[in-house]
Amino acid sequence: MRTQVGIIGAGPAGLMLSHLLHLQGIESVIIEKRTREEIEGTIKAGVLEQGVVDLMKETGVGERLMREGQFHKGIELRFNGKGHRIDMHELTGGKYVTVYAQHEVIKDLVEARLKAGGEIIFNVGDVSLHDLDTNSPKIRYRKDKNGDLQEIDCDFIVGADGFHGPSRPSIPASVRKEYQKIYPFGWLGILAEAPQSSAELIYANHERGFALVSTRTPEIQRLYLQVDLNDTIANWSDDRIWSELHARLETHDGFKLIEGTIFEKDIVWPRSYICDPMQYGRLFIAGDAAHTVPPTGAKGLNLAVADVQVLSRGLDAFYKSGKTDLLERYTETCLRRVWNSERFSWYMTSMLHRFHDTTPFEQQMQLAELNYVTSSRAAATSLSENYVGLPMEW
Ligand code: DHB
Repeated sequence: MRTQVGIIGAGPAGLMLSHLLHLQGIESVIIEKRTREEIEGTIKAGVLEQGVVDLMKETGVGERLMREGQFHKGIELRFNGKGHRIDMHELTGGKYVTVYAQHEVIKDLVEARLKAGGEIIFNVGDVSLHDLDTNSPKIRYRKDKNGDLQEIDCDFIVGADGFHGPSRPSIPASVRKEYQKIYPFGWLGILAEAPQSSAELIYANHERGFALVSTRTPEIQRLYLQVDLNDTIANWSDDRIWSELHARLETHDGFKLIEGTIFEKDIVWPRSYICDPMQYGRLFIAGDAAHTVPPTGAKGLNLAVADVQVLSRGLDAFYKSGKTDLLERYTETCLRRVWNSERFSWYMTSMLHRFHDTTPFEQQMQLAELNYVTSSRAAATSLSENYVGLPMEW
């Protein structure tokens, strides 16, 4: 098989890239190790920046998002038993975020690709990358996990295969500079059938640990608790989860968390990670394959979409006029925005969680920071412009 751009991974980065390339008349093939049902059912954060929403609308995949997404103009930071609203809309000149789950974005993009005749090969195994430093790199994989070996001849390969995928390790270790921070806790997430307890997201700093109230739909709520590094879901009965959420979200003015039926529990392990460069020969890596952020602030999908927007412009220039300057600057262009989001996600994470070595002094520093961002217009504006998202070109 031959294609112009071979894409590994049908997550938001790979699918959005394939969609953008199609609109520019560039052909691509996506291979994905999971099945369609698996990618459409994997639960991830659901906060879209304005730039992502605009891009989806402009490229014809924003219809359901505009119908079913929830538009949030503010967030609440909760500490010392009191909530403080940050009016992001007012502070950023009218911007807001859209709560619309990642797997919904994936469903919309898969549908658009298949409708336009795009090729997505699901359920592949043994993916490997070859000849990256030539003009005809190749992807090999096995059909249906362990079937026949197949090969795709490409002009370019894009690794959008997540943190654990085979693309990044295909860049020789000698040219990779990696930056990493592992956080000493997990995030237990639940989905519950319950009415919304709050019209906006609540980020709570509590001495028992961080808690977050988010939402999926008016009937389904997404809530998170900071848990121990070695915790497992088995340690968290429904009763324990509700009682911990009540404790961490309690306010002096009687906030009422509405309980419901928990139908999903998962734990993620927050990590900050950056690989520099994001390109080697004819391989470009995008999204979580190149960088991950801790979840606080929900920047992951937004960064992935920004990467592939840069990449689609570079590939467009290459195919229309043979110019390679945008492609050559891919790492530099993306990492500027990536480092900023890394800083913001690390900042939000540091301000809101209990760390195993949090001393009384550090606890006071967190509270001073929270007091500052909720009292100073300048500080609240800084938090807001990062939360709603800096311009895609930043
Ligand atoms: C969600 C996740 C986050 O990490 C966050 O900061 C906000 C919302 C979510 O899953 O809805």
